[in-house]
Amino acid sequence: MTTWCDAKTAVQVVESGNNVYLQGMSLTPTLLIEALVARGEELRNVELYTALTFGPVPYTDPRWVGHFHVNACFVATSERPAINAGRASYIPIFLSSIPKLFMPGGPAPLDVAFIQVSPPDKYGFCSMGPSVDFSRAAVDNAKHVVALVNPHVPRVYGHGFVHVSRLDYAVKWDHPIYAVPGEAPDDTQRVIGRHVAELIEDGSTLQLGIGAIPDAALQALTDRRDLGIHTEMFSDGVIDLVERGVITGARKALDRGKMVTCFVIGSQRLMDFLDNNPAVKMYPVTYTNNPQIIRQFDHFVSVNSALQVDLTGQVCAESIGTIQYSGVGGQMDFMRGAALAPHGRPILALAATAKAPKTGGETHPYAIAPVDGQISRIVPIPMPGAAVTTTRAHLRYVVTEYGRVDLLGRSIAERARSLIAIAAPQFREQLERAAYNLRLFS
Ligand code: COA
Repeated sequence: MTTWCDAKTAVQVVESGNNVYLQGMSLTPTLLIEALVARGEELRNVELYTALTFGPVPYTDPRWVGHFHVNACFVATSERPAINAGRASYIPIFLSSIPKLFMPGGPAPLDVAFIQVSPPDKYGFCSMGPSVDFSRAAVDNAKHVVALVNPHVPRVYGHGFVHVSRLDYAVKWDHPIYAVPGEAPDDTQRVIGRHVAELIEDGSTLQLGIGAIPDAALQALTDRRDLGIHTEMFSDGVIDLVERGVITGARKALDRGKMVTCFVIGSQRLMDFLDNNPAVKMYPVTYTNNPQIIRQFDHFVSVNSALQVDLTGQVCAESIGTIQYSGVGGQMDFMRGAALAPHGRPILALAATAKAPKTGGETHPYAIAPVDGQISRIVPIPMPGAAVTTTRAHLRYVVTEYGRVDLLGRSIAERARSLIAIAAPQFREQLERAAYNLRLFS
């Protein structure tokens, strides 16, 4: 039985000590979050489970310590200060494993799931539009589901439908969902995109990670034929290639003709593109990110990025030293799946430099000194405290604006030499010296 009510009434279902899931990204249910936090004084020890929350996060305010505690499975910019200040927690987890938290016997059985859906269709089904990911598991396993029912949520095919009868509390809301306008890639990203594109053959199936580099790679693929999409997420970059007839999915081993993803982040134009589009299928993350599924695509190309890569090939993508920046996400799911595919290509693409931090910086014996306000993202060893997201045994292709290397079967010395060759020229001498001191060339 669904109770249609206002947000204030709906959030009464939450009790002290509950585990509560908050849907994230474009469908972050801000109205419910605000109504819940308004009850903060009367609630204690409410555990919130999040992944890439968009919009305000009032529950991270220091005054709510002991009332609300965040467990972020992927860190949003807004939650980052609370996590790094120790008021909130980060859970290192493969994106494909998040549903396990909520499944029977899992470590975080959900009392309540806060989600956002489209209005019911004539059969009573609402759609979770651009965010099916782990929200599917949350809806299927929570004791209670509270939903904002919003006509701005696109109706997307696949596994994101929720029958209205599953909603314990439904709140009508007529408000644009979170859209993220794409930013045009800069010159460096365009060059990297071109290097990545050289590794993508006609008929390949693609996973494109988060950020400007994947979109730059897409822009360099306008002359390819029959590309397919099987990914964790996509953004605006795909629309142009669909309209040009480049992305057809005609040669995909699975879900032929469909673009498969578990969430989408992008502009309002992208949300309109998703709406009732038979070419798009949203699946739970347990399908999209399953290496056993990914390996079935003959020519699978996975494109992800990183904050740092060390000279042996260890990839730090989620933290800058001890500062937690983002999350494991689907990087390892796809890097491994692509490596297992018969002609798969796991690619790590990153700019060779980043702007030097204003304060702090690396001080250990193998640190590379900044040059002209820039630091090298190719480093002798990871910054102390940095988490390794992809191991050196999993890493294969690395691309920067200075070229690309294939590390498969390469020794430590060969890796160090190849990675120095695609580092920014002004850092190569320092890197070579550090590599000698670390005995990487012996
Ligand atoms: N040291 C210090 N700061 C660094 C740095 C380094 N080695 N490398 C990058 N930075 C800073 C940048 O200057 C930038 O700062 P700003 O926000 O102040 O401009 C910030 O970190 C982000 O760097 P950028 O290169 O813009 O990152 P991005 O948006 O391309 O994202 C990742 C890169 C690695 C953070 C992102 O891909 C990620 O979170 N990956 C993990 C999850 C994943 O791969 N999922 C896969 C499927 S979605």
